[in-house]
Amino acid sequence: MAHAGTLTISNLSKQYEVKGEVLPVLKDITLTINPGEFVSIVGSSGCGKSTLLRLLIGLEEDYQGEILLDGGRIVGTSLERGIVFQEHRLFPWLSVEKNIGLGLLNAKVPEEEKRRSIQEHIELVGLSGFETAYPYQLSGGMAQRVAIARALVNRPEILLLDEPFGALDALTRAHLQQELHRIWQQESITMILVTHDVEEAIYLGDKVVVMEPRPGRVRRIVPVALAHPRDRAAYEFVRIKEDVMREFIGQPAEEVIEPPLRAHDAPSDRLPSTFRFAV
Ligand SMILES: Nc1ncnc2c1ncn2[C@@H]1O[C@H](COP(=O)(O)OP(=O)(O)O)[C@@H](O)[C@H]1O
Ligand SMILES: [Mg+2]
Repeated sequence: MAHAGTLTISNLSKQYEVKGEVLPVLKDITLTINPGEFVSIVGSSGCGKSTLLRLLIGLEEDYQGEILLDGGRIVGTSLERGIVFQEHRLFPWLSVEKNIGLGLLNAKVPEEEKRRSIQEHIELVGLSGFETAYPYQLSGGMAQRVAIARALVNRPEILLLDEPFGALDALTRAHLQQELHRIWQQESITMILVTHDVEEAIYLGDKVVVMEPRPGRVRRIVPVALAHPRDRAAYEFVRIKEDVMREFIGQPAEEVIEPPLRAHDAPSDRLPSTFRFAV
């Protein structure tokens, strides 16, 4: 029997039928995610990342292969698994606390406990004082914090994040990455982050799963054995980033998700001279 919270994906394949033709989207994905692990998934647009998360959350059940949580097959959605999307998907007519409370709609806990949990999660995401604010009064980053609180309020074992910071400006994104790391440590849950930002993937992940497209497959799994807080300009960090980026070179031009590493991506005084103009 697998350890509680272990997610085991074995030979997972998924296809859609479009206008009578079979479109293979995921092929033979095999991946083990340990309890409390932070796993980043990167890959170009259209390589099946969102489809994979939809299968993991149980929104789609038509697939080949196996997805097991704690040794049992995932069937339908469950309070054990929360999800955050790129768009915050908050209801504009509900306040912050009511939006977060929606996460508890199906939870069988007394009202008093629900109120306490909502308040705790508002604090967890750093939004104390904004309980009664409406989405239009929030910045994009704050709205994503609410979405994270709503996904966590049920205390799921696994949080899935589908490009949650993709629409935010670079500074807000960097700040929320730090915050997400803090929340992950505080909550001790498994997080699976889909992103097309290689730096974000390495900054947060215990490992980075690199996918390749048509059909979506795992190209490589890159471990990130760096202590936190991680320094994006450190030599080891930049080396891993270059390693991950190299996986994309060789894919067709339109599939390259970011330009290759340039010398000014990291302060040159932190890099050995042989590295500076390597790519
Ligand atoms: N419901 C669907 N019906 C048909 N094709 C789909 C459906 N959902 C996704 N696809 C196709 O599957 C592929 C992967 O999509 P997606 O998982 O959204 O990729 P990603 O999130 O990596 O950008 C794309 O080619 C997309 O057009
Ligand atoms: Mg997607």
